[in-house]
Amino acid sequence: MKYDLTEEQLAVKEAAREFAQKELLPGVIERDTKMEYPAEQVKMMAELGFLGMMVDPAYGGGGMDTMSYVLAMEEISKIDNSASVIMSVNNSLVCWGIEEFGTEEQKQKYLTRLATGEHIGAFCLSEPGAGSDATSQKTTAIDKGDHYLLNGTKNWITNGGTSDIHLVMAQSDQDKGHKGVNAFIVETGWDGVEIGAKEDKLGIRASDTHTIMYNDVKVPKANRIGEDGFGFKFAMKTLSGGRIGIAAQALGIAAGSLELATKYAQERETFGKPIFKHQAVGFKLADMETEIEVARLLVYRAAQMKDKGLDYTVPGSMAKYYAAETAMKSAVEAVQVHGGYGYVKEYHVERLMRDAKITQIYEGTSEIQQLVISRNLLKKDLYSPVII
Ligand code: CAA
Repeated sequence: MKYDLTEEQLAVKEAAREFAQKELLPGVIERDTKMEYPAEQVKMMAELGFLGMMVDPAYGGGGMDTMSYVLAMEEISKIDNSASVIMSVNNSLVCWGIEEFGTEEQKQKYLTRLATGEHIGAFCLSEPGAGSDATSQKTTAIDKGDHYLLNGTKNWITNGGTSDIHLVMAQSDQDKGHKGVNAFIVETGWDGVEIGAKEDKLGIRASDTHTIMYNDVKVPKANRIGEDGFGFKFAMKTLSGGRIGIAAQALGIAAGSLELATKYAQERETFGKPIFKHQAVGFKLADMETEIEVARLLVYRAAQMKDKGLDYTVPGSMAKYYAAETAMKSAVEAVQVHGGYGYVKEYHVERLMRDAKITQIYEGTSEIQQLVISRNLLKKDLYSPVII
């Protein structure tokens, strides 16, 4: 299917595919094994404009639409999901959050460097006791007049050890619950910002995930994003867009798994013919292709709704939920098609299978997406079985 993409969108997709094949594929297995951050490749992504794709060119970005971003994420995620999560967090959580809700001063000071990839950002919402239950923030930011005093611990932070800027959510007024939460731009070089050890993860192993501690960090008032108490809404609104990025990552994992499985099935012979010609394999691939196409429709629809200025929260959750489930299923099936070869690193599908799992967890678990989708049902005008 062609999806009626513009010349520009097709060019972005092609550029991302080429970059992924030429620059990410060599070394991807080694970086994954050694948990080695793809520093050189991130630099190249910055040069190609992949780190601030949707940011206004006035702030150093590419001025592209969400659809282009999703296409690039899909292609890069077929090959390297450590690179694509770095890209996703920087684009749709950090750059988007500052561009949409930051002051002009914040944009001039922080956004331009983030959009060009000179600086990398992290999004610090999750805590040891606040993952899915994000309103239970224990990190505090106490108003001290001209600054806030930030104290607490954040967990599972992507780009945790390599970022220059953190967007940190913290509780300023416990009595107000989530309406007391604020969001701040924190520079990692400030006194009191302490980076914990790098996590040894199942998948996306080359990405840089850390616990972060804030010990009496002085955050200037000018670094608060939005009005007092806007922090939780800021996090939710930003995550609504972020989830489209992760949905595109999951779509890439699923589509990459299918590409590898289809290729292998044509080369590998058993019982005198390529395994592709055995129905047990061919039908598996047919199911994968069909489910991936459904995921693609959901992901592209969510991106297009965002581009059209429509409400994309529920479409984004549907896209992330379905694409993540499809990624997991497709990657498992791709390993199965490869048989024993699928279980070893050099055939790439075992890595995609490990990477797929995180798409069901971060930026809102599959169950959180189901919660968002099911709650929305209550807002619908439902047919009544009672005849009036
Ligand atoms: N947009 C705008 N506002 C929203 C919103 C959205 N998408 N979702 C919720 N809100 C608002 C609600 O309207 C409500 O506001 P009011 O009180 O003014 O009416 C407020 O936020 C609280 O919402 P709820 O009452 O629905 O709160 P809840 O506790 O019942 O549920 C939740 C909220 C949807 C479960 C939320 O906590 C959530 O999304 N949890 C998952 C958190 C998450 O995705 N974490 C990912 C971490 S970041 C990450 O993974 C990045 C990385 O490094 C890769």
